[in-house]
Amino acid sequence: MDIAPTRSRLPTCPLSLTINGTPYNLDVHPWTTLLDLLRSDLELTGTKKGCDHGQCGACTVLIDGERMNSCLKLALTLDGASVTTIEGLGTPDRMHPLQQAFVEHDAFQCGYCTPGQICSAVGLLEEGHVHSRDDIRELMSGNICRCGAYTNIADAIEQVLASRPGESHREAVE
Ligand code: FES
Ligand code: FES
Repeated sequence: MDIAPTRSRLPTCPLSLTINGTPYNLDVHPWTTLLDLLRSDLELTGTKKGCDHGQCGACTVLIDGERMNSCLKLALTLDGASVTTIEGLGTPDRMHPLQQAFVEHDAFQCGYCTPGQICSAVGLLEEGHVHSRDDIRELMSGNICRCGAYTNIADAIEQVLASRPGESHREAVE
């Protein structure tokens, strides 16, 4: 069955997005999720598809600074938004502090959940509601790790939390 020509005749809509600091003017089908736009259309495959149903957190990105499951967002609802994916947080030579902490704490095994874990942790720290290790575990509970690297993930996030200016977290957890 010839699917591609049929899909190409279906209507698309204009969409303007900034992704990792780069402006994009796109034409997308109305049913395209942000996750599929990133991975399939723009080849930003750092963001992972796990469940595709909002249950695992593997697809977490930052939309206007807030962590979101990109599999649950229709791309067209985000016109004018600014999206940050794992590719936009840092590079191997200049890692984001959370990326560095994940490496230092060996906070992954297969790595499939890791981009979502790190993007979620960036959003978590910006939300300002985390003050203890228990908070980290509770507020990261939407990000599933099938390898069970939770202890090291919490260690990595705790290290970055403790290093933030004015953060009294260290006293809170001791
Ligand atoms: Fe989006 Fe699982 S792929 S929550
Ligand atoms: Fe394998 Fe988390 S490191 S799923």
